[in-house]
Amino acid sequence: MSENNNVKTVARYVNLREVSESGDDVLVVGGGGREHAIVAKLRQSKRVGRIFGAPGNAGMDVTETGIGATDIDRIVENVAENPNIRLTVVAPDDPLSMGLVDKLTARGFRAFGPTKAAAKLEWSKSYAKDVMRRYGIPTAAYGAFTDIDDARAFVSGGKFPVVVKADGLALGKGVIIAQTKAEAFNALEEIMLDKKFGAAGNEVVVEEFLTGYEVSLLTFVDGKHFSLMPTSCDHKRALDGDKGLNTGGMGAYSPCPLFTKDLLDKTVKTIVEPTVNAMIKEGAPFKGVLYFGLMVSGDDIKVLEYNARFGDPETQSVLPLLDSDLYEIMNAVIDGKLDALDIKWKNKKSINVVLASGGYPLGYKKGCEISGLNDVSDDAKVYFAGVKRGDNGGFVTNGGRVLCVQAMADDFASARKTVYDNIVKIKFDDCFYRKDIGSKL
Ligand code: AMP
Ligand code: GLY
Repeated sequence: MSENNNVKTVARYVNLREVSESGDDVLVVGGGGREHAIVAKLRQSKRVGRIFGAPGNAGMDVTETGIGATDIDRIVENVAENPNIRLTVVAPDDPLSMGLVDKLTARGFRAFGPTKAAAKLEWSKSYAKDVMRRYGIPTAAYGAFTDIDDARAFVSGGKFPVVVKADGLALGKGVIIAQTKAEAFNALEEIMLDKKFGAAGNEVVVEEFLTGYEVSLLTFVDGKHFSLMPTSCDHKRALDGDKGLNTGGMGAYSPCPLFTKDLLDKTVKTIVEPTVNAMIKEGAPFKGVLYFGLMVSGDDIKVLEYNARFGDPETQSVLPLLDSDLYEIMNAVIDGKLDALDIKWKNKKSINVVLASGGYPLGYKKGCEISGLNDVSDDAKVYFAGVKRGDNGGFVTNGGRVLCVQAMADDFASARKTVYDNIVKIKFDDCFYRKDIGSKL
């Protein structure tokens, strides 16, 4: 369990001798379930000593620094004050888009994640679409607009449904599927005039509505070489049967059985290689995790979006399958030497289901006591997200997505049974979760 020392800087914990004997210190930026899964995998490396979180959370077995993930100047200062931190892993989109990796690298520190210029594939949808158009990477037909009248004219001349997207980062909420012209106009006004997503809405992308099924493909990229992770599948809607509001993700499984080897080979040829090479030509080689959000229909595969990072909650299903040393992989990515590694994955099926606070993704209570965690069996793993320590030392809820339960097995049915058998043991007020993650596998 983590120490309960919330608001202290990293500097206070560092005892040089102890650290040098026990391995390199690592700072992980972010504080959700994805970051917990990264930390859990880094812990398996013999080369890793202590792990700090900026901010981390009380359940993820790190020393919490009290520094927020977007407080990038303080993060850089803390790394500067602690020479034993040999790697900073930048997991969330915001600090990447703010150039945290550039700032750390400029000071001579090792950081895992893309530069601001490379992360633009995520933080500007119009840039991502433009790259895809210029390098012939398959994606939905689109127009990009800074003028609402131009956007309205484009919508009026097209088919419905149509997809309206704010250009910038909007916590996954900046995508509206409009069934009618009136809905599309309304979305344009909310994004461009009312600035519902702030500056993220200075530009919009209007695109063709695609049908099919979605697959997430995460890849390690070292600028030039890449290595695929097992495919995965997210569940973005809050309720069973893909009903309800869009969330950050309510559960995931890996690998995606529908996505055959032929489809994967085609994706590598038409999408992964061209994107990695495009970024070299753009003068912004991509280093880190490049996430391809794909829409698949028959053997037609198109890019819905790029993310410049690990996905949440995909990571909580994918990383437990990794059989190689994540610390070594991250260093190889930084050094451009991914081709020297033989990265191994378990041939197992993995599932995770998120337990959320009632009301999420809208308003929800915080501070509810979480019970039953000690009853979770050894073959299931809990990854913590929105939790903190309560007055009595146990965990209380502190966010919308509170935790997820993950398990893996030789077949999906067994993994799924382990997850759901354990979920019912965990209790907090107004807890809800989807009962259908992996039910069709
Ligand atoms: P994005 O952030 O661009 O991936 O969009 C979020 C979600 O909106 C995707 O995971 C899809 O479910 C949906 N979506 C985005 N673009 C399209 C599209 N062109 N056609 C159909 N659905 C889409
Ligand atoms: N699971 C989707 C994302 O991380 O953006």
